[in-house]
Amino acid sequence: MPAEETFEHHDYDVVVIGAGGAGLRAAVAAHESGARTALICRSLLGKAHTVMAEGGIAAALGNLWPEDNWQVHFRDTMRGGKLLNHWRMAELHAKEAPERVYELEQWGALFDRTPAGKISQRDFGGHRYARLAHVGDRTGLEMIRALQQRAVSSGIDVFMELTVTDLLKDGDRVAGALAYWRESGRFVVFQAPAVVLATGGIGKSWKVTSNSWECTGDGHALALRAGATLLNMEFVQFHPTGMVWPLSVRGLLVTESVRGDGGVLRNSENKRFMFDYIPEFFKAETADNIEEADRWYEDKHNRRPPELLPRDEVARAINAEIKAGRGSPHGGVFLDIASRRTPEFIQRRLPSMYHQFKELADVDITKEPMEIGPTCHYAMGGVEVDPDTQASLVPGLYAAGEVAGGMHGANRLGGNSLSDLIVFGKRAGEYAAAYAKGLGAQRPRVNAADVSRAAEDALAPFGAGTAQENPYALHQELQETMQDLVGIIREEGEMRQALEKIASLQQRARNLSVEGNRSFNPGWHLALDLRNMLLVSQSVATAALERQESRGGHTRNDYPTTDPFWGKQNVVLALTGEAGQGPTTLAVKRQALPEPPPELAALLEDAH
Ligand code: FUM
Repeated sequence: MPAEETFEHHDYDVVVIGAGGAGLRAAVAAHESGARTALICRSLLGKAHTVMAEGGIAAALGNLWPEDNWQVHFRDTMRGGKLLNHWRMAELHAKEAPERVYELEQWGALFDRTPAGKISQRDFGGHRYARLAHVGDRTGLEMIRALQQRAVSSGIDVFMELTVTDLLKDGDRVAGALAYWRESGRFVVFQAPAVVLATGGIGKSWKVTSNSWECTGDGHALALRAGATLLNMEFVQFHPTGMVWPLSVRGLLVTESVRGDGGVLRNSENKRFMFDYIPEFFKAETADNIEEADRWYEDKHNRRPPELLPRDEVARAINAEIKAGRGSPHGGVFLDIASRRTPEFIQRRLPSMYHQFKELADVDITKEPMEIGPTCHYAMGGVEVDPDTQASLVPGLYAAGEVAGGMHGANRLGGNSLSDLIVFGKRAGEYAAAYAKGLGAQRPRVNAADVSRAAEDALAPFGAGTAQENPYALHQELQETMQDLVGIIREEGEMRQALEKIASLQQRARNLSVEGNRSFNPGWHLALDLRNMLLVSQSVATAALERQESRGGHTRNDYPTTDPFWGKQNVVLALTGEAGQGPTTLAVKRQALPEPPPELAALLEDAH
């Protein structure tokens, strides 16, 4: 670091890291609570991964099905999460989602309508009733547009193209964060007693993912390093339908709305294979013959086609078909809506999918089936937080959205992420603001020595020694490791192999070397991201090895069934060593899952 460099410095009450749905909603809430608020994003404002939640926002509005209500939504969410959700988060989410959706509408979100003029709602897997408020297949985009307008028009300070490298502390409390401008590479110090992590997911550690470049698990890693704990990191959702062809867009999301609007899955023998994979758990609610499933669509018969089983079930079934040699030419299976809906219907309800396949794969989805396969989509695990306030174990540190754990248990239902973002984003922003205000004169201070140390660490790749390592090569090796050894189906030997490989990559990452200088230097950015990706990957593999059962987004060949013992356990991780040349070590703990109170437990009686 040049000796003469002076750092840009800012002082706030609340700093929000990440400007997707959760970050924007948290910033608006903190600002409206009277806190001086900064919103930091790695990309340009508006280019958040939230836009990849395409199909809708789950909320029991009851517009199509008056019998829908928060209790049914709560039950569906817990059932989809294989009862490993934090019951209180699932309760708050189901109760508050409708209000948050109407609020979005008041802030300018233009939802599709029913013929009666109400907000339209569509079917998605695991939801008993059509429940997803939507804007075609661009719902996440519309959510971001409305929230962004609200944030900008209320005068919140937005820092774009800025990456946070470390959280700063004063004793055991958060005191701020160190970041760098992606363009100039110059550092920025934020002093703030409350920090909200809203950094999203971790998918960039896998080779086939729907996630965009920002999803490197920064918040998960920042939280661990600051002394917070991570919960249930073994649960990783593979969305059943990503593009498989052409290779350049492999993993790109194909929204579940295709199935929600009538699309079906077929194998190379043209068989609708999902009927062969209905687990006992779901038999009562799932139609067991094709005619009945088809009638369900037309008559709103209250039973579900098996393509709308929860995502973990569908992804495993697709995986099994491909492994059995009944896949499509490019290693997926077929998703067919062309034979089931008119071209007008498809183009009106699924405009983005129509253009995506036409432009990227030269496939007309109104005439031909799509080739799709599972893609790494979402982390159910995340920072352990208080369910009401979103506070982590570190005073002043909050987390909301995908980076927070607990809400979705072992598997998230589609559409529950957008509602999660706005319900818990608002809560995190409000509680962070109240915490900062409550400190009065006792505010933590950033320590200059910590800032210098963090800046020196960040610049280490410019001064690497002789054993120089290339960040792109390391990233590729990590992605292959996670894809092959910690993917949809797991087993002990492979996960141990993955952990050994990750440890060796962490060792090699200490010698990462980048060329050029600090102004816009993607190699350097990746070198910094890798530190986070390696720690998060280690967390996933460690937790996955610990949980000796199969449940939701964690399937083990060597423990193929759910186990009642593990159904009452969270797996919690803390960082115990990272500094110097020693290995990065994590402490693993089993922690009893909180039990719901009797009135909520009663709602779950038939959910086992
Ligand atoms: O399939 C989708 O549109 C994705 C939605 C979600 O992950 O919630």
